[in-house]
Amino acid sequence: MGRPLQGLLLFAVCALHVGGLDFQPGSQALTQSVSMRHSGVKERAAQIVKRSLPSWLTASHNHRIRRRIAEQSDSCKQHRGFQSKLTDNTHSFKFDDLSGSVSLAWVGDGTGVILTLTTFQVPFFMLRFGQSKLYRSENYGKSFEDVTSLINNTFILTEFGIAIGPENSGKVILTAEVSGGDGYRIFVSSDFGKTFVHLDLPFNPLMQISYSPENSNVLAVLSSKNELWLSEDFGRSWKKIHNMVCLFKWATKNTIFFTATKNGSCSDRGMFELKRTTDLGKTIKIVASKIFSFGLGGRFLFASIMTGKGTLRMIHVSTDQGETWNMAQLPPVGHEQFYSILAANDDMVFMHVDEPGDTGFGTIYVSDDRGTVYSKSLEHHLYTTTGGDTDFTNVTSLRGVFITSVLAEDNSLQSVVSFDQGGEWVPLRKPVNTECDATAKDPGQCTLHIHAAYSIAMKLKVPMLPLTEPNAVGLILAHGSVGDAISVVKSDVYVSDDGGYTWMKALTGPHHYAVLDSGGLLVAVEDSGEPINKIKFSTDEGQCWSVYIFTKDPISFTGLASEPGARSMNVSIWGYRDSLISQYWVSFTIDFRELLTRDCDDNDYVQWLAHSDDISDPNDGCMLGYKEKFLRLRKDSVCWNGRDYVVDTQPTPCQCTLDDFLCDFGYSRKENSSECVEQPDLQGKVLEFCLHGKEEQLQTSGYRKIPGDKCVGGEMPQRKEIDLSKRCVSDLVAPELQTNSHSSKSVAIVLAVIVVMLLSVTAGVIFLRKYVCGGRFLVHRYSVLQQHIEDNAADGMDEPLDNSHTPNGKIEFHDDSDEDLLE
Ligand SMILES: *[C@@H]1O[C@H](CO)[C@@H](O)[C@H](O)[C@H]1NC(C)=O
Ligand SMILES: *[C@@H]1O[C@H](CO)[C@@H](O)[C@H](O)[C@H]1NC(C)=O
Ligand SMILES: *[C@@H]1O[C@H](CO)[C@@H](O)[C@H](O)[C@H]1NC(C)=O
Ligand SMILES: *[C@@H]1O[C@H](CO)[C@@H](O)[C@H](O)[C@H]1NC(C)=O
Ligand SMILES: *[C@@H]1O[C@H](CO)[C@@H](O)[C@H](O)[C@H]1NC(C)=O
Repeated sequence: MGRPLQGLLLFAVCALHVGGLDFQPGSQALTQSVSMRHSGVKERAAQIVKRSLPSWLTASHNHRIRRRIAEQSDSCKQHRGFQSKLTDNTHSFKFDDLSGSVSLAWVGDGTGVILTLTTFQVPFFMLRFGQSKLYRSENYGKSFEDVTSLINNTFILTEFGIAIGPENSGKVILTAEVSGGDGYRIFVSSDFGKTFVHLDLPFNPLMQISYSPENSNVLAVLSSKNELWLSEDFGRSWKKIHNMVCLFKWATKNTIFFTATKNGSCSDRGMFELKRTTDLGKTIKIVASKIFSFGLGGRFLFASIMTGKGTLRMIHVSTDQGETWNMAQLPPVGHEQFYSILAANDDMVFMHVDEPGDTGFGTIYVSDDRGTVYSKSLEHHLYTTTGGDTDFTNVTSLRGVFITSVLAEDNSLQSVVSFDQGGEWVPLRKPVNTECDATAKDPGQCTLHIHAAYSIAMKLKVPMLPLTEPNAVGLILAHGSVGDAISVVKSDVYVSDDGGYTWMKALTGPHHYAVLDSGGLLVAVEDSGEPINKIKFSTDEGQCWSVYIFTKDPISFTGLASEPGARSMNVSIWGYRDSLISQYWVSFTIDFRELLTRDCDDNDYVQWLAHSDDISDPNDGCMLGYKEKFLRLRKDSVCWNGRDYVVDTQPTPCQCTLDDFLCDFGYSRKENSSECVEQPDLQGKVLEFCLHGKEEQLQTSGYRKIPGDKCVGGEMPQRKEIDLSKRCVSDLVAPELQTNSHSSKSVAIVLAVIVVMLLSVTAGVIFLRKYVCGGRFLVHRYSVLQQHIEDNAADGMDEPLDNSHTPNGKIEFHDDSDEDLLE
């Protein structure tokens, strides 16, 4: 499985660099009064936390958690003479007459090339004069060259932006509207934006052109008429692959998945076909139909497919690019609800399932390694339908850590953290150097709450999302407040240096912040709404901050910009000056290299065991079956990690315990124990599983390793494999599965006949046709079959769907005539 992983990584790198920054003059978030109530008791936060996977953390709860912060001395070291050192290394650049918004993009990794483009948010015909301007820097933003003549007479919409090629390909595409209404043109560069070639497009693009993650010469885009166009020669020639495409996505190996609509409307959700091409459009295969939407995450392909029962749809999963599908053991949702992939890697997926009704919350489920069996991870998980906002954050600086928000019963918002990949969620600890705010009932007891996407959408004074970087181990910077719930009035900057176990208040009030030199240097600029001329920096992970005045004449601040990847030592402060006579953009780029005078050596690093709380425990620090020791920069070391710094980790495997296993389908944890026992109330569920399970999935010992868990030896659940198919209501097992077991062959035939007879009572012809057709699309076929069963059983059997959300059990049957189109 090396390939898909590689694809994923490439894509992540590419995403980093594609994500330019948009600045807009005067677009500061205003503080508005928002109706979020601040009450709620601490116990409630704990109460709504649902524990489904037993956690190796339980034990640690009673332990004292050793604070890495506490090891350090309290006094702040002064950086002698930093003001003059930094003044010598501050470079300002003035951009004359920049209208619209400014997009920045870093081209390549460590090249220092930045493109700055002015873009427009209104369509071109509404603009009377002017054009997009392009500037290029080769020294991390210290100076720019005006290269607007490369894109003569064109306008670039903000949403088309700057498309940077994957990896270090040095490719750039600008998609422009030609003035005079002469259609669209692309400017392509293969030399990091030094030269551009312009090419006219034979269609009007609907969106930014996207690169194949594996071959930067291969491009795809949708046209405004919803045609899918492809180029294999970096934009020189284009061919139309398909009409009426609603959405497409690149997968690994130059594969494209897309949904197509038959009768011409992309609002016709639930009637799409999911198609796949592995040869860039030469052949196209339908892999599923009745599609509402689809998504890719890790090695999983997900599709939400109409069940045929009213407006209900269900998630189906494929791990072989759509060849075969399995139904995920997740509740179905109706039209007003949604599913969302919160995070996924090759091991597992976090899936959010919206609650019925406009509640603004839902439930997080974590998958097993097949993507089909799910455990409930967190209830009351905030995810608003309106803005599509969720606070779910993968803390990329420490394995297994995630932070998100829950909506408590009193409608207050509270933050929770999981240190074990969703196994258990707990409130964040109160930072030691803080007092509880007015939201706290008990002034001595409260927790930390993190402001993330939702607060930003609500226009609270929160300028940035939580920030973590994989190469700044354990470090988290985030806005937050300390009380019983998130405060609408106050946000300060908090820092954790141990992956979220302990926190401290680092800065008062809202700030923009950035991580430089792999965490060796943090910078922050206060966002008070007033013009600014100060930047704060810290060389000890946010404990002590120095203030540097970078200009005499304050600027209206719009944002901080540093090269993605957090390895740089150069940071740019962007803003504008606004006077009666002129308005212009200005950037100040500060090179901190001279502040950290020397390179770090071995003595500057200390060993740190992640997830540790009790060194005497042999299992201390074990997370998903292994523990990791990192070499981390000492807080009091003032030195340079350097661009080549690699995170030094020594993973050691842990012994397995029962807690390294999930209960498989049909099993659940015994209360207060790690043992998996057969679920007594399985009737309906077994039925469903039998219908949709693959052969191997019908064998179980009750336990499955937690996805990604690498424990060895130790306690291995000794149970004999149980053939779930035996427990399946006999006449429902798929014939394909039964033919495998020799002895039951004849039984299978008999049963098949019975099945046909039984069903023909209600479904006759339709069923026979489907049955005979066979086909790969097993799930679909059997989900149709299942409907009949349910219809049949409506007066006798329990509702087999595993949820209380199904609006009313009784389900309408539709003849899904699109069945014929399945291969
Ligand atoms: C853009 O226009 C300038 C002046 O009008 C001209 O000198 C330059 O050659 C043009 N560039 C291109 C690429 O057409
Ligand atoms: C597409 O087909 C569906 C049902 O087949 C129908 O309800 C809808 O109105 C059609 N849309 C258009 C644009 O023809
Ligand atoms: C979370 O982020 C880390 C680091 O980028 C990544 O390795 C991991 O796969 C992510 N987890 C999920 C579930 O996406
Ligand atoms: C900062 O910018 C200079 C060019 O001005 C560059 O040589 C240097 O490598 C950059 N520093 C880092 C750490 O990226
Ligand atoms: C499980 O633990 C809880 C709290 O410790 C306790 O109230 C409950 O009785 C226990 N259940 C069993 C079955 O032991």
